[in-house]
Amino acid sequence: MTRREFIAQSSALGVAIANRTISAYQAPASGRSQLGQRIFRSADGVLDIELTAAEEWVELAGSQARLYGFNGQVPGPLLEARPGDDVRVRFMNRLRESTNLHYHGLHIPSTASADNVFLVLPPGEVVDYNFRLPATHPAGLFWVHPHLHGVAARQVALGLALPFVVRGEVDGIPEVAAAREYFLVLQDFELDAGGRPIEPGMSASMLGREGSLLTVSGQRNPQYEIEQDGLTRLRFLNASASRFYRLRFEEHPMHVIATDGGALAAPQSADELLMAPGERRDVLIQGAREHGTYRLTSLQYDRGTTGMMGGGGNTAPVDVARFVYAGRDERRPQIPRTLVSVPGLPASTAQRAFELSDAMGMIPGRGMGMRFRINRQEFSEARIDTRVRLGAVEEWEYRNATTMDHPMHIHTNSFQVVGTDGQAERAWRDVVIVKARSAARIRIRFDDYAGLTVQHCHILDHEDLGMMGTILIEQ
Ligand code: C2O
Ligand code: CU
Repeated sequence: MTRREFIAQSSALGVAIANRTISAYQAPASGRSQLGQRIFRSADGVLDIELTAAEEWVELAGSQARLYGFNGQVPGPLLEARPGDDVRVRFMNRLRESTNLHYHGLHIPSTASADNVFLVLPPGEVVDYNFRLPATHPAGLFWVHPHLHGVAARQVALGLALPFVVRGEVDGIPEVAAAREYFLVLQDFELDAGGRPIEPGMSASMLGREGSLLTVSGQRNPQYEIEQDGLTRLRFLNASASRFYRLRFEEHPMHVIATDGGALAAPQSADELLMAPGERRDVLIQGAREHGTYRLTSLQYDRGTTGMMGGGGNTAPVDVARFVYAGRDERRPQIPRTLVSVPGLPASTAQRAFELSDAMGMIPGRGMGMRFRINRQEFSEARIDTRVRLGAVEEWEYRNATTMDHPMHIHTNSFQVVGTDGQAERAWRDVVIVKARSAARIRIRFDDYAGLTVQHCHILDHEDLGMMGTILIEQ
């Protein structure tokens, strides 16, 4: 079949396909998916929703767990909008502690009622988050989670995370549109036999807490259907507080079509995906094998914790999900050869280096322990660490002086990772893994929004223990 015929057929079949496909976060008209997560889509250019965070009994992995849910669910509902949409989130804090929300990866203001992580919402209070997605916003998978310094790791580890998908150009590519789409929100929990969370000890939080129960959109090792000769689109979000996933799909190469901040210029095939907390990947799988069940496994990965202070839970492969062949896609869609245009960033006008280190210090209520720093300083909201000009392009180098990996995340603007050859990768990311005792470089442009924003390690325990810095983007 030629590409043109394929386009004609897929638009004719589009509706039928949409109705036939049932998956986590892919709802029939009712707005509830097979696995029960709600979906909220924008209509007439507006996404208007109410979100409540509360501690309650939620369904997780087929039983009840006492967690922090958004609207009673872990993970929370899927939000879906388009570039140019107005987003209005009325957020109610029914927790018995303060919290707030961060719109991870969205290119929106970091001030006022938008992606403002300096806002503190006390228990019982309500806040209205209001912002507009720019008309040029890339399509991609973003997410929402609490971001209150000192408690972010615990609140996220107790379940507060939800995916936020922006639909756009890449979704309209016929082969991509023909794929069966699943959202896989990766979380880990440590629960007792009664379903109550177990608080990590001090050393576990210094390493970054990891739970032994792995869930995918709230299910343990769930089963998904893939079609013979069809394409399956897996949209991964690592919403764990600290766990890395090294994903391998049994007997199927993964064709990466998007990283954190949006689509690639062309699919890149990969045998494995390493995903640090906060990262997203969008992957196509071709249903080209024999009928049967195939495993998606997370392989061992040592982020510098194995053997340290009783750490190293991430040492054995774990099955994350199963895929079973069912049905056939007669249109036989192929992996598209090209996707969207990804511009390079112009040459940088400034270079900076950030040294990541650890040091012993007081941990409130716990005594002496390891704390984490950027350029020898722990986070202080009262200090401006980095001043940049609106519109400037800069190159930043992270130098990791510690024996653990630190996945660094920057708010407000996505960036491109610079290779050893000095070339910036044509891919938008907002998390870069800075491996133990090594360095990483990025190129970033501070577009559109002036104001105070932050960068930090997305091992959220490290962020809570100081590894965060402010960035002031000046007009
Ligand atoms: Cu997903 Cu500043 O974090
Ligand atoms: Cu870290």
